[in-house]
Amino acid sequence: MQQKPEKPVKSVKSAKPAKPFKNIIAVANQKGGVGKTTSVINLAAALSKRRKKILVVDLDPQGNATTGCGIEKNQLDHSIYDVLINDVNIDECIITSNSCGFDLLPANRNLAGAEIELVEAENREYKLKNALAKISAQYDLIIIDCPPSLSLLTINGLAAANFLLVPIQCEYYALEGLSDLLNTVERLKISINPDIEVLGLVRTMFDGRNNLANQVSAELVKHFPKKLLSTCIPRNIRLAEAPSFGISAVKLDQQALGSRAYIAMAKEIVRLL
Ligand SMILES: Nc1ncnc2c1ncn2[C@@H]1O[C@H](COP(=O)(O)OP(=O)(O)OP(=O)(O)O)[C@@H](O)[C@H]1O
Ligand SMILES: [Mg+2]
Repeated sequence: MQQKPEKPVKSVKSAKPAKPFKNIIAVANQKGGVGKTTSVINLAAALSKRRKKILVVDLDPQGNATTGCGIEKNQLDHSIYDVLINDVNIDECIITSNSCGFDLLPANRNLAGAEIELVEAENREYKLKNALAKISAQYDLIIIDCPPSLSLLTINGLAAANFLLVPIQCEYYALEGLSDLLNTVERLKISINPDIEVLGLVRTMFDGRNNLANQVSAELVKHFPKKLLSTCIPRNIRLAEAPSFGISAVKLDQQALGSRAYIAMAKEIVRLL
C-alpha cells in the first residue's frame, strides 16, 4: 500500500473471511458535471460512518475523487494507471487515509494515456476487474468513480461492477444521455458483464423551486418507478465547497442538507444491496 503524501495513515485491517463478493458499484453517467464524484465521495463517507470498509476507485483522469480526498494527485508514487498498464500490484497503489475514512485507489492525468495504451492490450476490458479481484474480499463495498464518457475506462468500470448507480441532474438533456447509457449497459450484459444490474438512478443538485427540475423528476418517476432512488440530493453549498477542504461534506458538516441526503442515500443503498 502506498501512503497518503505527508499525512498520517492507518494500516489496512486484515482481510475478512472469503465470501461471495457482489458489492462493486460503478457510478457512471457520460454526461459531465452531474455529481458522480460528489456522490462517490459522500456515499463512501456515509457508508464508512456505518462501519463499512470502503474502497473508492478513481477511474477518471481528472482525478477529482483523488483531490476531493485531500490527496495531492501530482505527487503520487503509484496510481490506477500503474495497475491498468504497468501491472503494478494493486495493493501498492491503494492509499489508506485517516481524513477520508475510506481507502482510495487514486488517479491523475497519466490515466488519460491509458485510454490509448489499453486499446492494444489483451483483455483490455477486464484490467480493472482482474485487479480488484485480488483485494475485493478486504472491503464491504468498492465504489468506482467513472469519467464522463463511454470510453474504454468506463467500460473497465462497468465490466468490474455488479451494480451501476447513475447520478442525474434534472435538466433538459438528462433523459437523452440516460437512454444511451442504459443501452450501453444492455450491450455490456450480452458481451462483457452479464452480472451488471442498474442499482438505481439518483437525482442530484435538485432544486425544487425550479419548474424544469420538477418536470424532469416527474418524467424519471414515470419511466423508472422501480429504479429511481427515493433519496434526492439537493443543491447544497456544503457539497460544493467540501472538495476544497479535501474531505467529504459528510465529514465536514454532517448536519448540512446535502450531507444528510447522502447519509439517507447510503441507508437506502444498504437496504437495496
Ligand atoms: N448537490 C450539489 N450541490 C451543489 N453543488 C454540487 C452538488 N453536487 C455536485 N456539485 C458541484 O458540481 C460540480 C460537478 O460535480 P461533480 O464533480 O461531482 O460531477 P461529475 O459528474 O463527477 O463531473 P465530471 O463528469 O466532470 O466527472 C462540482 O463543482 C461539485 O462540487
Ligand atoms: Mg467526476
